[in-house]
Amino acid sequence: MRKKLIAGNWKMNGSLVANEILIKSLLAGVGTPVCQVALCVPAAYLAQCHSLLNGSGIDLGAQDVSQHEVGAFTGEISCAMLKEFGARYCLVGHSERRQYHFETDSVVALKAQRALASGITPIVCVGETLAEREAGRTEEVVKRQLAAVIHANGHCISEIVLAYEPVWAIGTGKTASAEQAQQVHAVLRAQLKAASSQADRIRLLYGGSMNAANAAQLLAQADIDGGLIGGASLKAPDFLSIIASVN
Ligand code: 13P
Repeated sequence: MRKKLIAGNWKMNGSLVANEILIKSLLAGVGTPVCQVALCVPAAYLAQCHSLLNGSGIDLGAQDVSQHEVGAFTGEISCAMLKEFGARYCLVGHSERRQYHFETDSVVALKAQRALASGITPIVCVGETLAEREAGRTEEVVKRQLAAVIHANGHCISEIVLAYEPVWAIGTGKTASAEQAQQVHAVLRAQLKAASSQADRIRLLYGGSMNAANAAQLLAQADIDGGLIGGASLKAPDFLSIIASVN
């Protein structure tokens, strides 16, 4: 049985003051959730969030990592650095990284490989744009994105978390319906099964305008094992009610 994972992606939001208020509210309200919970915070705040979350049941994650191990890569952050601040997870290949920072499928695959080799669980993001969906290319796109990660990671693929985030649903208030999301998750699960006998262990998260009102229905789908939440993870009551909707 896969334990569900609810992960917040703060994106480029927060401040020392706001982070402390948000994390303290989450810790006060989270109780003993039936799912795992993680926060993927901006790199600049890893140290602060590490000390605020230390010893709590909420895990820490980063939003990106270098595909290189160490060296002359100005501005980059390595897996070893993330580990020093207690990061258990790292987002890899978020659509905003693919779109604005031109990350290719092969770079995303290398980042996932580097994270796995360092003992960090990559949360690999895949998803189609609106134009790709309207052209009937959703399956082809997500399968291509996942294939690169499978190819680079071999049997280690069972250690990843995969997030399906349709680009058209991110930050738009337009959520994929539970059926639309489940349909793509089933395709991804089948692809993982063809690659690994351990594919049933892999958590598949849905992301894209998930909120307190739609979470329960999405999370009830057979192949939806959690959520990757942007906007609603910045408001403690909203994020807490998404966590509470897991059963
Ligand atoms: P929203 O929940 O704000 O749509 O963002 C989703 C996302 O991109 C999480 O990684």
